[in-house]
Amino acid sequence: MKKLTLALLIAGTSLMAADGTTLYKKCAACHGQKAEKKALGKSEIIAGWDVAKIETSLKGYKAGTLNVHGMGAVMKGQVAPYSEADIKVVAQYIHGLK
Ligand code: HEC
Repeated sequence: MKKLTLALLIAGTSLMAADGTTLYKKCAACHGQKAEKKALGKSEIIAGWDVAKIETSLKGYKAGTLNVHGMGAVMKGQVAPYSEADIKVVAQYIHGLK
């Protein structure tokens, strides 16, 4: 019984720890599978951006203080549910896209 509880706990944790592929899935609709597109024809191409630059940008959108091309509100909605840890993971994922 104890073992089962532990196994469930571990399974629960790994379900909650989102990975880059999952976190980036919805982003691809606008930014492209490889982050190679100008989202809605507006954003910069974010492929090749430094991890730190992506993180700063996403945190700015989440806080509602960033609006580079007049569409910051679109990005605010995208990253609103993302925790700081999620932002870090997705930033690393984008940086690693080839
Ligand atoms: C509905 C389309 C859409 C989706 C989905 C979307 N974005 Fe964006 N993204 C945009 C637009 C439009 C901009 C430009 C916003 C502005 O005016 O500052 C942008 C800007 C950005 C920028 C900054 C680029 C720049 O030009 O400064 C980053 C980084 C970014 N998005 C990452 C993401 C990530 C990560 C996700 C997924 C969590 C995501 N986006 C989902 C449309 C989208």
